[in-house]
Amino acid sequence: MSQHSWLNQKRVILGVTGGIACYKACEIARELGRLGADVTVVMTKAATAFVTPLTFQALTGNTVRHSLLDPKSEAGMGHIELARWADLILVAPCTANTIAHLARGDATDLLSALWLAADCPKALAPAMNQNMWANPATQANLETLRERHTLMIGPDSGLQACGDVGLGRMSEPSIILAALESQLQAGPLAGLTVMITAGPTHEPIDPVRYLTNRSSGKMGFAIARAAVRLGARVLLVSGPVDLDTPDGVIHIAVETARDMLEAVKSTLKTVDLFIGAAAVCDIRPETVATHKLKKTTSNLSMLALIENPDVIHQVALSEERPRLVVGFAAETEMIETHARRKLEDKGLDFIIANDVSNGQIFNADDTKIQLVSHSHTEEWPQGSKEAIAEQLMQRLSESLLERTENGTKI
Ligand code: C5P
Repeated sequence: MSQHSWLNQKRVILGVTGGIACYKACEIARELGRLGADVTVVMTKAATAFVTPLTFQALTGNTVRHSLLDPKSEAGMGHIELARWADLILVAPCTANTIAHLARGDATDLLSALWLAADCPKALAPAMNQNMWANPATQANLETLRERHTLMIGPDSGLQACGDVGLGRMSEPSIILAALESQLQAGPLAGLTVMITAGPTHEPIDPVRYLTNRSSGKMGFAIARAAVRLGARVLLVSGPVDLDTPDGVIHIAVETARDMLEAVKSTLKTVDLFIGAAAVCDIRPETVATHKLKKTTSNLSMLALIENPDVIHQVALSEERPRLVVGFAAETEMIETHARRKLEDKGLDFIIANDVSNGQIFNADDTKIQLVSHSHTEEWPQGSKEAIAEQLMQRLSESLLERTENGTKI
């Protein structure tokens, strides 16, 4: 038994719903026990058609629950008591049907009632046919659950039981357990909220055209993953990007700079650390044409541009200013001088400067940064965005915790 596992001595409800991936839930139940967790399996009626409750009882040593209205079980530990008992609810496999129930807040069976009543961390590992996964109804339900801080693990892509190939296979038990370990551990940022802006913004010109820039969002997304690993609650506000939403983050998708500002302001109150990694368009067309513009000279000369709001500057000036506000500066010359001026002008605590001359950095997997504070500049060696994000979050979490303890300015 691992003494280092977050799951050691944790009380876990393993929800099992009716899909062929039920057989993999047996391995999850056994592994949870091996890691020191006390596991109560709760099955939906459909799940009992795939695997018998007796199998899970033998694997966990605990009675398996599958009925909301069973007087005998309720007399032992009622469903509300069971909800209070749990340190974690993991539903694996979680079918599209159960995802819909959970998103809607139904309490029509024991598992959905427990989900509704419990206020412990909750995770689910979806498993379904690829079309059911891709259906907008399922995606909307998942988004609802993500917004309510559910940790999503998987699904994976590959050959499905029905013969289709695509997204929807439940992640392997080892991946599910590793995700629980890394995301539920109490890291240095446990209990704190980090908000990150990422990616470009799109500023519409007409129904088919927009102004934008070369940002891929990779750095902001890597920072979001690192913040999750440190135990933070992470709000990721991103412009249009072609990246998967990291597990465990609350993702708010926006299009324009003004949308981004609104999304940021609406939840700023709860934020302890703000990191502006987005490449926000500084300008936008003054008016957005209702119909596609024709290439006439008058149209070209009519394309007047106006300034967009500076999101990070408004965050720094806000009455709800987070304790640490950190920006990025993409520069092509006199990197440190320009970055330092932005640090002062925008009222930031740190600015991360990088050299984007010759188009380097944008969309690349590597980066090279200088970390500039009011008192000094650190030149960091080149590394992958993932590794730099990890180091950066470590460094910023130390500063944040120092500030929290003695209220000093860096
Ligand atoms: O002024 P510049 O765009 O170089 O500043 C970069 C920093 O300011 C980044 O942290 C970026 O996310 C933020 N920014 C912003 N809103 C803008 C422009 C920049 O939040 N309109």
